[in-house]
Amino acid sequence: GKNFKIVMVRHGESEWNKLNLFCGWYNAELSDRGREEAIKAGKALKDANYKFDLAYTSVLKRANDTLSGILKQLGQEGIPITKTWRLNERHYGGLTGLNKADTVAKYGEEQVQIWRRSFDVPPPAITPENQYYETILNDPIYNEGPPKDQFPMFESLKLTIERTLPFWNETVVPQLKAGKCILIAAHGNSLRGIVKHLDQMSNEEIMKLNLPTGIPFVYTLDANMKPVPNGSMQFLGDPETVRKAMEEVANQGKKK
Ligand code: 3PG
Repeated sequence: GKNFKIVMVRHGESEWNKLNLFCGWYNAELSDRGREEAIKAGKALKDANYKFDLAYTSVLKRANDTLSGILKQLGQEGIPITKTWRLNERHYGGLTGLNKADTVAKYGEEQVQIWRRSFDVPPPAITPENQYYETILNDPIYNEGPPKDQFPMFESLKLTIERTLPFWNETVVPQLKAGKCILIAAHGNSLRGIVKHLDQMSNEEIMKLNLPTGIPFVYTLDANMKPVPNGSMQFLGDPETVRKAMEEVANQGKKK
């Protein structure tokens, strides 16, 4: 039967990635390097001859600007773009704004690895004492949702997947089946959630996955939206570059 291709990309390096701060739902800007990564990703997609019909992204600037950087390279700025909080990065709760290496120094590498990569262990909740509490809660980018009474104070990957999957199943899948060529520009952990679902990864397996910034990857799915053989996470970049980029993300959680 017919197969379906979908392209996904984690946003380029953000200013907070550069400072090695837990970011989550804080609306950090892309760094200059991040903007370059978006241009590079756009060129790779242009060389691979992608012609997108639709794009989906979060409500966070770092993903939105990565998407527009890519579409500009493709000359496809005019395609419909849907922004949704459901593709947001995982909410890092009380860790938001903390330096990852300092957090390792305080709590140890293992605890930080659990907070960053475990399936169902959430970070501590953000509280009004966190300097970014008000900024996030009252950010107008959340005017379209989630509802104030459901606004998260923290998210595990499990909780992230639970709010991303309805969007995947109700919006993305029908458009894929309608034959649309789709690009998703999102975040390290919202994409880890989608990938875990598509590949039916175990909780242990997903612990080991670090998605690189700014390198698009392709899934080829069958009629049941399951990856075909060798159809999972095909990066548009040479393997060495991808490996180094994944390692850089992993090392953010190591002591200085
Ligand atoms: C963040 O939200 O800090 C990053 O975008 C993702 O962080 P992580 O790689 O530590 O999960």
